[in-house]
Amino acid sequence: MTDEYQEFDRARTSGDGDEPSPVTAQQLPSDGDIETSLRPKSLDDFIGQPRVREQLQLVLRAAKLRGGTPDHILLSGPPGLGKTSMAMIIAAELGTSLRLTSGPALERAGDLAAMLSNLTEGDVLFIDEIHRIARPAEEMLYLAMEDFRVDVVVGKGPGATSIPLEVAPFTLVGATTRSGALTGPLRDRFGFTAHMDFYEPAELQQILHRSARILGIDLREDAGAEIAGRSRGTPRIANRLLRRVRDYADVRADGIVTRDIAHAALAVYDVDPIGLDRLDRAVLGALVRSFGGGPVGVSTLAVAVGEEPATVEEVCEPFLVRAGMIARTPRGRVATQAAWLQLGLTPPPEAATGGIEVRAREPQLDASDGD
Ligand SMILES: Nc1ncnc2c1ncn2[C@@H]1O[C@H](COP(=O)(O)OP(=O)(O)O)[C@@H](O)[C@H]1O
Ligand SMILES: [Mg+2]
Repeated sequence: MTDEYQEFDRARTSGDGDEPSPVTAQQLPSDGDIETSLRPKSLDDFIGQPRVREQLQLVLRAAKLRGGTPDHILLSGPPGLGKTSMAMIIAAELGTSLRLTSGPALERAGDLAAMLSNLTEGDVLFIDEIHRIARPAEEMLYLAMEDFRVDVVVGKGPGATSIPLEVAPFTLVGATTRSGALTGPLRDRFGFTAHMDFYEPAELQQILHRSARILGIDLREDAGAEIAGRSRGTPRIANRLLRRVRDYADVRADGIVTRDIAHAALAVYDVDPIGLDRLDRAVLGALVRSFGGGPVGVSTLAVAVGEEPATVEEVCEPFLVRAGMIARTPRGRVATQAAWLQLGLTPPPEAATGGIEVRAREPQLDASDGD
């Protein structure tokens, strides 16, 4: 079973260029420190996701009123939308400390037992990528989540004994890019699931202006809109594009980020007005120009752009489908009217609408659409 988002980003960052595409949703090594400084610190500071925020506020306040620990919380959604930030906010709002680990780090039950036995009452245990937790650790987690105890097995073979161990009452916050890959028993033990969705351009614009304030960047209003429209509905991408645009403004201009500067900088980085990168555009171009809009099989399409079929399928298609440019049909991939318009061509009358609104005439408004 492949991990859609993981594969998506691994493939994108290991393309032919040395430089990963700036519209990668996954964290890149160069993002690290800056992201920490840009993380929202409280629920009020968190922009967007109004429903998730309101629901979480209720969950956390109710727990505080009762003086207990809140239910375990699952945060699900694509990379770069604020799951890790939200986990940190949950601990901050509860006034407790956050212990951080990840599914892949919990290979053995013993790894988890060590984490659990170090918790103090009320702590938040954050397990990132929880869908990748190893089975024995997962089974230990069931009991810990339910009864705040674990059974530690000491010794091997017939002489092995199981020693029950108390765990301080804690709140588990799990994050996953693939909630569908969670086993039923694990999913059932979360009292509350928050699904994070792609952000609207207006929200991304607010995030960009907040980041610009923190980083001391003079970002003009219309420049914020320009960057927001190319950020694929993803705050992580928005913040990364902001930094690239700032570099350009510092080197080629007076440091002030105007709309023209943003425009010119993003052209240098090959990010088009709706956030497509070079490979996305090559796929779209091949589909429309070489295959008349399809339908065409994904492997044929991949050959046409000189890429592996898996790369086309996992790297380009998810966003192109989300943006309403490509439709997946049983007979192959089909370009929608929006794809033709995006390439500046007149769509043939039979071109699919893809069941979506065609808004390619105002491409900068489209980036977070289609879901
Ligand atoms: N709602 C938001 N408001 C402001 N910045 C955000 C928001 N969501 C995410 N970010 C920014 O995007 C970056 C990535 O968010 P993160 O929480 O690491 O996402 P995830 O864990 O879902 O991949 C953060 O460092 C932060 O700067
Ligand atoms: Mg994260």
